[in-house]
Amino acid sequence: MNRQVDLETLTRAKAHSGTTEGYMPGFGNDFETEALPGALPQGRNSPQKCEYGLYAEQLSGTPFTAPRGQNERTWCYRIRPSVKHVGRFSRIEMPYWKSAPCVEDHIQSLGQYRWNPVPMTDAPLTFVSGMRTMTTAGDVNTQVGMAAHIYLATADMEDEWFYSADSELMIVPQEGRLRIETELGLIELEPLEIAIMPRGMLFAVKLPDGHARGFVCENYGMKFDMPGRGPIGANCLANPRDFKTPVAAFEDRACEGRVIIKWCGQFHETPIDHSPLDIVAWHGNYAPCKYDLRTFSPVGAILFDHPDPSIFTVLTAPSGVEGTANIDFVIFPERWLPAENTFRPPWYHKNIMSELMGNIHGIYDAKPEGFVPGGMSLHNMMLPHGPDVEAFEKASNEEQKPVKLTNTMSFMFETRFPQHLTRFAAHEAPMQDDYIDCWAGLEKKFDGTPGVK
Ligand SMILES: [Fe+2]
Repeated sequence: MNRQVDLETLTRAKAHSGTTEGYMPGFGNDFETEALPGALPQGRNSPQKCEYGLYAEQLSGTPFTAPRGQNERTWCYRIRPSVKHVGRFSRIEMPYWKSAPCVEDHIQSLGQYRWNPVPMTDAPLTFVSGMRTMTTAGDVNTQVGMAAHIYLATADMEDEWFYSADSELMIVPQEGRLRIETELGLIELEPLEIAIMPRGMLFAVKLPDGHARGFVCENYGMKFDMPGRGPIGANCLANPRDFKTPVAAFEDRACEGRVIIKWCGQFHETPIDHSPLDIVAWHGNYAPCKYDLRTFSPVGAILFDHPDPSIFTVLTAPSGVEGTANIDFVIFPERWLPAENTFRPPWYHKNIMSELMGNIHGIYDAKPEGFVPGGMSLHNMMLPHGPDVEAFEKASNEEQKPVKLTNTMSFMFETRFPQHLTRFAAHEAPMQDDYIDCWAGLEKKFDGTPGVK
């Protein structure tokens, strides 16, 4: 006998959805969203005529034939097709936004480097013109490697939009909120959150606080993905539901504006007489998203010997060689340290990967002095580094009760490629000339007699 379900008696979830208003949860989901009722075709992608007189257009983030689990594309239903958002291009200069390879003869990238925060400026800089490249790695023309930037922004992008054909952009605000108006919807971002802007996605950045500073990882290679969790299982670290993709939003507005395009390391502009943010509905899995770093659920040592820092990987951009990332994005969040008879800070090491760190907020446990919010450090390929003398002595001698590390959020852009300093990083950014001295006080304790010193 069939059981009949009376739909009228069910309490339907729609009116009580727990999702954040304006966003859809999930990482890499196949989303669908419409800003006007009926704008999104059902059951097909390309009807003979679209509702509202919209144009159907596909944005492909992977080659058509990429394996199903990696294949990414989004169908957009827009007021004008993208060919109407670009005209003839003119080359423009963005002298501080560099692309790999950018290896300058007189700049030495081998060394332990650390920088104080680049000071804010009164100059009228947008998110794009205020981009300052610190390091580059790999080659933008072969779509491998990355660049690490800081941005200083004091001006909204008014009637100005940008996309990078070169790269996916991971935006890590450190100071000031960002309102990112993208083709696929609105992302409102604040420090301790990150946003991912896919390659080719048009957007403009507005500054609700009037100024902003932060970090950007420009990924020339395959897209960021969630790392495999292995024996950790199905939960913890970054959880997919905490990634938020915006719902569709559009504007139908005339203006005298321009679109800026980064393509093979060069910048171009093209005039536009209307807003290109004209997608009324879309569906697909190639979309921007944001993520709150405070929702990362760390897993770590509960008896002795902490794991490698890869345990803190939020997202990883693969290189094609298994386990060898083009970029890992790693964070060092608040967490408990309960392990016993063990050295709790990061141990001394040399690494084939190149580690660029930034401090978003608070104090980093391996470097209690000198690595301040807004600051950065670089430990390049096969360059030794580790705790400074103060951190070493404290960690070696303190009574090991469980301790909660609070007031801390640093991150690392780690790449398989060596990172080369730009002229800006070497000569204009506030480099700490004495950084290497943080290890100067480490003493030889060995004298040949047994026993723990
Ligand atoms: Fe390291």
